[in-house]
Amino acid sequence: MDDLKNIFVTGGAGFIGSAFVRLLLEELPDARVVNFDALTYAGNPDNLKDIHEERHRFVRGDICDKGAVLAALDEGTDVLVNFAAESHVDRSIHSADEFIRTNVLGTQVLLDAARARGVRRFVQVSTDEVMGSLPDRDDAYFTEDSPFEPNSPYSASKAAAEHLCRAAHHTHKLDVVTTRCGNNYGPRQFPEKFLPLMLSNAFADQSIPVYGDGRNVRDWIYVEDHCRAIYDVMTEGRAGHVYNVGARNERRNLEVAESVLDALGKPRTLIKFVKDRPGHDQRYAIDPSKIETELGWRPRETWETGLAKTVRWYRENADWVARTRSGAYRDYYAKQYGTV
Ligand code: NAD
Ligand code: DAU
Repeated sequence: MDDLKNIFVTGGAGFIGSAFVRLLLEELPDARVVNFDALTYAGNPDNLKDIHEERHRFVRGDICDKGAVLAALDEGTDVLVNFAAESHVDRSIHSADEFIRTNVLGTQVLLDAARARGVRRFVQVSTDEVMGSLPDRDDAYFTEDSPFEPNSPYSASKAAAEHLCRAAHHTHKLDVVTTRCGNNYGPRQFPEKFLPLMLSNAFADQSIPVYGDGRNVRDWIYVEDHCRAIYDVMTEGRAGHVYNVGARNERRNLEVAESVLDALGKPRTLIKFVKDRPGHDQRYAIDPSKIETELGWRPRETWETGLAKTVRWYRENADWVARTRSGAYRDYYAKQYGTV
């Protein structure tokens, strides 16, 4: 797809969406970007405060609200990129309601609105978690053909959203492409997720909660590498196709916790093993061969360079962390870990 002039991004005040909006403004100097976000607890206007371009228009709105979506989505929009979601697995275990509402109903509202407005392409930002959990063996990988086996209410809601996208493509011939990525890390990630939670706790010399035995494996990718992959799929991906995105960077949680503490110069004794997550997926590992061979995408950051950049950002943005760990977050923390 070329000549992209009007792009509609949902969830662009969140962690990955805000990085993607920055990338779009950089890569497409003539494009206008509408950033549609409800500003839930995870959406943060601070994430956009260094964007001064008039080509970026922020609209506060809920993707479940058909009228609001249609009012903001112009005829002639080239691409709709859907990041908006409830994204935290632990919260979905406490209560699934918002996950079903935003991730399932909201996606269908966006698909209908995209058809109504003649949007040329719909990009669904999905997750490797729709494919469930892999055995703890080095030779097992998720491919685009892996079956759907979601295990948490979060991943089940994202799987449902993918099914709706597939149906819109198959039945209504909407041009849909989907990405499935693993665990992102980098600047501006809400500190309920493992990596920023560790960083913000360790900076304050608080303990780092590691679930279960810490042997679960996640496949980590620097957020800008994920955004470049979405950009490549948006511009060059084949309609109706799914692309797995991963940096071939699998690590056990305990190893990740140790790397973070070492990078900060904090003692490993801060690690505290806590009660496991119910239904905790054992291992994610992504085979990114398709996006590598078809689109020539490669990650630019290694684990070491990405982690160093991330640590530097959190070190230099203590005020962002303090503001983000608001009253609402403290209530959640007490419920999840039993202490504040
Ligand atoms: P995030 O929680 O940081 O941001 C989500 C954003 O969506 C927030 O700005 C929030 O305000 C907005 N939002 C939530 N409900 C909304 C609604 N009803 N209407 C409009 N906006 C709403 O999430 P993230 O980590 O940046 O993830 C973004 C997307 O990427 C999600 O779809 C997630 O499933 C997917 N994803 C995330 C990861 C990861 O590691 N974080 C990996 C793969 C895929
Ligand atoms: O794989 C992609 C997914 O990665 C995304 O789709 C999700 O939106 C994103 O939240 C993430 O899901 P995870 O459940 O893997 O991420 P989280 O940061 O919550 O946890 C990462 C690992 O660390 C997981 O094995 C659970 C563990 N963990 C997490 C927390 C919050 C801990 O050991 N202690 C913790 O306090």
